[in-house]
Amino acid sequence: MMYNNEHFEPVITPNVDKPNCETIEFYIQHENGYKALEKALKMKPAEVVDEVKKSNLRGRGGAGFPTGMKWSFMPANPVDANGNPKPKYLVCNADEGEPGTFKDRLIFTKTPHRMIEGMIIAGHAISSNKGFIYIRGEWFKEARLMQKAIDDAYAKGFLGKNILGSGFNYDLVIYKGAGAYICGEETALLNSLEGKRGEPRLKPPFPAQVGAYGMPSCVNNVETFAAVPYIIEKGWEKYAKMGTERSGGTRMIGVSGHVNKPGVYELPMNLSINDIIEIAGGMKGGKLKAVIPGGASAPMLRADECNVLTDYDSLAKAGTMAGSGGLIVMNDTVNIVEATYTLLKFYEHESCGQCSQCREGSHWLARMFKRILDGGGTQDDLDYIAKICGNMAGQTICAFADAVTGPALSSVRKFREEFEEMVMKGGLKGIGRTESVSH
Ligand code: NAI
Repeated sequence: MMYNNEHFEPVITPNVDKPNCETIEFYIQHENGYKALEKALKMKPAEVVDEVKKSNLRGRGGAGFPTGMKWSFMPANPVDANGNPKPKYLVCNADEGEPGTFKDRLIFTKTPHRMIEGMIIAGHAISSNKGFIYIRGEWFKEARLMQKAIDDAYAKGFLGKNILGSGFNYDLVIYKGAGAYICGEETALLNSLEGKRGEPRLKPPFPAQVGAYGMPSCVNNVETFAAVPYIIEKGWEKYAKMGTERSGGTRMIGVSGHVNKPGVYELPMNLSINDIIEIAGGMKGGKLKAVIPGGASAPMLRADECNVLTDYDSLAKAGTMAGSGGLIVMNDTVNIVEATYTLLKFYEHESCGQCSQCREGSHWLARMFKRILDGGGTQDDLDYIAKICGNMAGQTICAFADAVTGPALSSVRKFREEFEEMVMKGGLKGIGRTESVSH
């Protein structure tokens, strides 16, 4: 399929299907590896920040915050109460845990040096000499591969002291999480990195003021860093042109569910959801019924809403979000009440419990959905779900509670007739559904 974008070319994944693409030798030989670093080290830090600002790169963790702007929030010469200089830290958020999201894992396993190079360039841009890579606890193989890649980068002189004779020193350290979804939230991640309980902190202060170990820190996602070498090598204009007016470059989309060719695709942003389903081999086992466009927390869209473009602004206008690029496709064999319950059980389990609205609300929502599935639901429950969500969204320390309300509210709003039928007929058994997910 044509991508309808004359400027498009893969920024991150041009060679991820080639043998040995993860090695430093391959990266240097076939992808001009670490040449962007050489170029960046000859630029002033502010010039690198400016280049990334103009490229319109937005954070690929999910929120889409402008990356160059985030880098520019880092204080130039921070000092402690005694006037001594404070270190600045760069943190890579590799705690990819959003259901339906698996794009960063591909970068980790197939092109780790692109991300490492992006981190060293970012370190230079914000004048930091140390970076942490916080890795999702379940990623055993990925963590091993990343450590090997870091060791190889040290061996070739791209990490360590006086990199490429520039006088710039940079160290990278891996830290493994222990499998809590909430540690992907940047301040919970920072607490976890410090050895504390992984609970989100109130913002402000943002990490740029008080980050890892109380020092100014900048937290970015894996894909965000991996886009940086291209921007520096080819220039901001080329990167910006590939995207939309307010959002530069390409996006990695993980397509899962009822498509013939699920997987990770690097795509331009001017494609609709229907186009992406087509690229992923088209629908499998039935007609399109619903999609979740940006990882589990993004509100669902009905099949008739899937002509929407997949850039940040178009999806926001459609009442959902681009989020972390996990496109979950559901065909008409899916029961929406049941599918949403699966997600709510996940959230109920993963709420850190710090805020009562989230701790209790995620539990109540899961119980109400289960009651409806078991045949004990009432029509009033459907309005009550909206009321609980109203008491959760925007009322807590972090965005987790908002995330829970994404699928809970959108499923009832967009597929209300399915809920009503289930209530009326007495749950899953009443609608004749015997083969269902386990509860
Ligand atoms: P947010 O909008 O609060 O912040 C986004 C980033 O911008 C943060 O780094 C924050 O520090 C920075 N920022 C925002 N306003 C700022 C300001 N005024 N000054 C300085 N810095 C500022 O969003 P949040 O809570 O960090 O992320 C929510 C997103 O995370 C959701 O949209 C969801 O898609 C995504 N998510 C991704 C997951 C994954 O596995 N990739 C898992 C769960 C959620």
